Amino acid sequence: MPKKIRLGIIGGGGDSLIGVLHRVASFINDNYEIVGAVFNPDYEQNIAFAKEIDVPTNRIYKDFDTLIEEELKLPEEDRIQVCSVLTPNFLHFPMAKKLLDNGFHVICEKPMTMDYKEAKILQEVHKNSGKVFALTHTYTGYPMVRQMREMIKNGELGKIHKVDARYYQGWINTVIHDKEKRSSVWRLDPTKAGISSCMGDIGVHAFNMVEFTTGLQVKSLLCDFNYLYEDNQMDVDGTVLIRMGEHVKGVIRGSQVATGEENGLAIAIYGEKGALRWEQEKPNFLYKMSDTEPVQIYKPGHAYNSELSLGASKMPPGHPEGIFDSMANIYLGAAKAIRGEKYNDGEFPTMEDGVRGMNFIEGTVASHKQGNVWVEMD
Ligand SMILES: NC(=O)c1ccc[n+]([C@@H]2O[C@H](COP(=O)([O-])OP(=O)(O)OC[C@H]3O[C@@H](n4cnc5c(N)ncnc54)[C@H](O)[C@@H]3O)[C@@H](O)[C@H]2O)c1
Repeated sequence: MPKKIRLGIIGGGGDSLIGVLHRVASFINDNYEIVGAVFNPDYEQNIAFAKEIDVPTNRIYKDFDTLIEEELKLPEEDRIQVCSVLTPNFLHFPMAKKLLDNGFHVICEKPMTMDYKEAKILQEVHKNSGKVFALTHTYTGYPMVRQMREMIKNGELGKIHKVDARYYQGWINTVIHDKEKRSSVWRLDPTKAGISSCMGDIGVHAFNMVEFTTGLQVKSLLCDFNYLYEDNQMDVDGTVLIRMGEHVKGVIRGSQVATGEENGLAIAIYGEKGALRWEQEKPNFLYKMSDTEPVQIYKPGHAYNSELSLGASKMPPGHPEGIFDSMANIYLGAAKAIRGEKYNDGEFPTMEDGVRGMNFIEGTVASHKQGNVWVEMD
């Protein structure tokens, strides 16, 4: 077993939503060890949390700049190798940039940056750094999503003609209908979240899933947002028509006010020979449909799955794979890249996915603001 990769964590404190997912995911395949962190901008809370989860406090820093400064003083063989950036959105770009500039690999939460311009700058920085950059579009780590990608790549659906991705949540209902609350959460503050709430937070996952599974790119889009209240600057619901080719069309639907919905990400890809459908809340079932045969259900861990899918399962068939496994598979792919080992390009989302995502988010906002017009993607 090679030595564990020395991992630093920025954000993801005890008060966060996503921190636990990254921490557990990083441990699942025994590749990483957390050696340093700034879990929280409040130093006391930062230290208290490190103690709570038993991370040595000698490399818990008061802020991100201090982490970089102090880690660079350490011999390379002790220094943090990769940092996970799990902060609110506005900090992703400056932190990821500084990390790459200083020779650290980066695992970064989405949306990658605040806007497309920042994404292009980060892409250049990354190119010049020679370091690994992994973007945590978590759902691409599921074995059945990877199987979907491989089946489509192998032509099992024939020519694709229709795509339908939906990401419906209802959680923002508890915030948006209260004037005080909707002006205080960072996700509805454009200075912290960026130009979009719904498309920036969850629509971009659906977009990434469409491109990840089909291997095709969205070429143009038309979007209609709902903001619900005049004093709310951020979309909380949106429907996007997409064109991926002359005869390949579809829709990406996102909502944070879909009452009663929890984490309803679902994707269906329809081709001339067949179709595939997958839902995040039932991630161990991949439905293959055709006009002539009964529906087939693919499940993780079976030998009939592709190498990419099987590499994402750790247990024999019948042991459900969940969100922690899915994120762990992205960490596993990033670990292979950091160690210079061979990996499949579907094993973790990249800088290029991040740039495409920011292009998509900006496109949806532009389309809506210009009066629901078609907008070209780069
Ligand atoms: N991949 C996914 O499916 C997924 C799911 C949820 C959230 N996210 C993304 O993860 C990021 C964080 O989301 P969250 O829901 O955990 O947010 P959160 O508000 O719950 O937590 C943010 C954390 O960052 C810390 N933080 C804030 N400023 C900091 C600073 N300057 N230095 C160090 N730590 C700092 C906070 O103390 C907190 O612990 C967002 O970009 C979000 O879009 C991704």
